[in-house]
Amino acid sequence: MIRVEELPQAISQVKTWRESGETIGLVPTMGYLHEGHLSLMRKSHELADKTVATIFVNPRQFGPNEDLDKYPRNLDRDAQLAEDAGVDLLFCPSAASIYPVNYQTNITVTKLSQGLCGTSRPGHFDGVATVVAKLFNIIAPDIAVFGKKDYQQLALIRQMATDLNYNIEIIGHDIVREKDGLAMSSRNKYLGDDVRLEARCLYEALQMAVAIINEKKQVEAAVLINTLKDFLEKTESCTVDYIEIVDSINLQRKNIAQAGDILALAAYFNDRVRLIDNVEL
Ligand code: PAJ
Repeated sequence: MIRVEELPQAISQVKTWRESGETIGLVPTMGYLHEGHLSLMRKSHELADKTVATIFVNPRQFGPNEDLDKYPRNLDRDAQLAEDAGVDLLFCPSAASIYPVNYQTNITVTKLSQGLCGTSRPGHFDGVATVVAKLFNIIAPDIAVFGKKDYQQLALIRQMATDLNYNIEIIGHDIVREKDGLAMSSRNKYLGDDVRLEARCLYEALQMAVAIINEKKQVEAAVLINTLKDFLEKTESCTVDYIEIVDSINLQRKNIAQAGDILALAAYFNDRVRLIDNVEL
């Protein structure tokens, strides 16, 4: 695996591969890799001749009171894991090379960036769309793999790729979970042992919703949401940020929940660690 930090090096390596007729897969990440990230890299390795993974803790997608400064990092460990997962080029640019002095351009996906995580994280999805657009331009991959764990992010990137005529196939990968069902996340590291155990309530809530839809086929969304909120708030450390039932493509709220809809939620643990999860009903 080749590891580079400078843009020109990444561009010239990809150019060499492209000139010899090889297809390129891209997996953007913010590092502190876990099995969720690695499964995306393996998927890309399976689908494309060469896989480029990026590690960049993107300052523009963090709000002023968020965890940019303490976001976990471990580049050497990540490099080993990425190599084992079949990554050919690991691109770890500096913030100054992605956003040089006098950088001014933002990408906004107007509708899909609103609601859900867009409400509690204003500006977050502009930061995501902007950095992903830049990575698409720098690497110009044939495919790019993203996790369904960040369901709104995936929907927004699909929309951006269509709107901006990127000739890139966007692949959505299933959520990878811990044994007890908690979705893997770099932020799980922030949970103390007790709270980590309690955090499995998120997956239990999702499963509860799936069971209700399997049994009743259709349910008033408000009723289902209240049931789940009551359930989650029985866990003392958990405060619900949002629970919503939305259309799987346009992410518009549904009044009646039914199979195929997306149930998405976000919750704070000990008012500190914000975790998200979702399931297709
Ligand atoms: P990050 O949170 O590091 O996630 C990188 C990719 O891994 C995303 O596509 C995310 O959906 C996926 N992922 C994370 N946890 C997962 C899990 N448990 N199962 C499956 N996939 C999972 O998402 C970002 O970084 C950034 O916003 C980024 C797209 C890199 C732009 O900065």
